[in-house]
Amino acid sequence: MANEQSAPYICHIFVCVKSRQGERKSCADGNSPEVKSILKKEVKIRGWADRIRVSECGCLGLCPHGPNVIIYPQKIWFSGVTESDIPEILARVEEEL
Ligand code: FES
Repeated sequence: MANEQSAPYICHIFVCVKSRQGERKSCADGNSPEVKSILKKEVKIRGWADRIRVSECGCLGLCPHGPNVIIYPQKIWFSGVTESDIPEILARVEEEL
């Protein structure tokens, strides 16, 4: 039986890195793996790593609008994300600290 526990993070940032290699649109087409890497680095630089987790994830179901980045449990969704949106995403996360 699984052990249920409360969330260890204030925010969990999920970055869709799904790639369909051109078969049809997917978030990796928009450089989402690099967005994830930058977010991870910035969270670490800011000293948030014990409270904020950045993880890559698979398809979130909004592929035509990607790259998609979501923040939970706040239920915040960013679509059409580029590297230039990272400061806005981090500012939104900072509001939760
Ligand atoms: S491929 Fe990212 S939401 Fe579907």
